Amino acid sequence: MEEDEIEQNEATDEKEVSSDFEYKDIKDLPGVGSAIASKIRNAGYQDIIALATANPLTLVEVCDIGEPTARKIVAEAREASKMNFMSGLEFEDKRKSVQRISTGSEALNILLGGGVETQSITECYGEYGSGKSQIAFQLAVDVQLPLEKGGLEGHAIWIDTEGTFRPARIEQLAAVKGLDSKQALQNIKIGRAYSSDHQVLLVDKIPELINADPKIKLIVVDSMMALFRAEYVGRGTLADRQQKVNVVLHNLQRLADRFNVAVYITNQVMARPDVMFGDPTTAVGGHIIGHVATYRIYLRKGKKGSRVAKLVDSPSLPEGEASFEITSNGITDIEEEKKK
Ligand SMILES: Nc1ncnc2c1ncn2[C@@H]1O[C@H](COP(=O)(O)OP(=O)(O)O)[C@@H](O)[C@H]1O
Ligand SMILES: [Mg+2]
Repeated sequence: MEEDEIEQNEATDEKEVSSDFEYKDIKDLPGVGSAIASKIRNAGYQDIIALATANPLTLVEVCDIGEPTARKIVAEAREASKMNFMSGLEFEDKRKSVQRISTGSEALNILLGGGVETQSITECYGEYGSGKSQIAFQLAVDVQLPLEKGGLEGHAIWIDTEGTFRPARIEQLAAVKGLDSKQALQNIKIGRAYSSDHQVLLVDKIPELINADPKIKLIVVDSMMALFRAEYVGRGTLADRQQKVNVVLHNLQRLADRFNVAVYITNQVMARPDVMFGDPTTAVGGHIIGHVATYRIYLRKGKKGSRVAKLVDSPSLPEGEASFEITSNGITDIEEEKKK
C-alpha cells in the first residue's frame, strides 16, 4: 500500500528525484542474482564501490562466472557508484544551489556562514543540556519559514535515538514564528530508533520519504552515536561499530548532496582525562564523524545561562565563537543589555 503510493508519486512528480540516486546492494545490479551476489561477497567484495574497482578477470576466477558476465557486472557497479568527475564549473553550479536554514540566532548564523547549509552535514557536539536538541527543534521549525525569514518553505525528517523529541516544543516555537502549530508538526516526520540497526534502516528509508515529499529540506539525527555507543560497550568490536557509523554518515552525506537537503546531527562528548590543558572533552565516535561532517560546532554553557558555539574544522570559514540564548521563544541572540 505504502509502496504503491510512493510509486505513484514518482510517476507524477516532475522533479525526478530518484532515478540516479543509488543505494543499491550488490544483488540489485542487473545480471546479479542472490547466488552470484553471495559468491561476490564471499570473495571479499562487500559493496558496490569495492566491486566497481574490481578487476573483471579476478572475478571470473574467484566467483566462477564467465568473462562477459564479470565485465558487465563491474561496468554496472561503476555506473551505480557514479564514479564520475565533474568540472570545476559544474561543481560551482552545484554549490550555487546550496541553501541555508536560520538557527534563530544571527550570531550563530554568521558563525556558520549564513545558517545551516544544504549539501552538508553539520555536527553539533556538547555536554548534556548544552542545547544540541534545542537547535534541532529550532531548525525543524525555521526550515518551514519563507526564504526571507531564514527558511526554505521546507519540511523535515527527524530521527530520534534518545526519545527526546517533544511535539509541544515544536508547537511552541512554530507559534512564536507565526506558523500554524499543528501544521508545523505535520511537516515533520519522526522516526524513533530503538537500536543502531534500526537507525541504519531508518536512514535507508529516507530516499523514499523524500520521493514522497520533495519539500523535505532538513534531516535531523538526534543523536548520531547514542545507540551505537550503548550497544557496543564492552563488545570489543570498535572497528565494526566505526564501520557501521561510517556507512550511515556517508549515506547521510549522499542524501545531502543528491537532494540538496541539510543534515544536522548531534553528538555527545566524553571526558578525556588525559587532556591536562584546554577543554578535557571530545566528541564521541572518534575521528570518523569529524572526517565526514563539513561543519562541527562545539557547544558549551556560557555566562548567565547563555550558550557558546565554537566552529571547529570548517573547510572555508574561520574558526570562531558565537554566543546565544535558549529561551521559551527558542534560540535567540543575547540582548545587548545582557552582554554588558
Ligand atoms: N522551553 C524552554 N525555555 C527555556 N529554555 C529551555 C526550554 N527548553 C529547553 N531549554 C533549555 O535547553 C536546555 C536543554 O537543551 P537540550 O538541547 O535538550 O540539550 P542537549 O544538548 O542535551 O540536547 C535546558 O537545560 C534549558 O536550559
Ligand atoms: Mg538532546
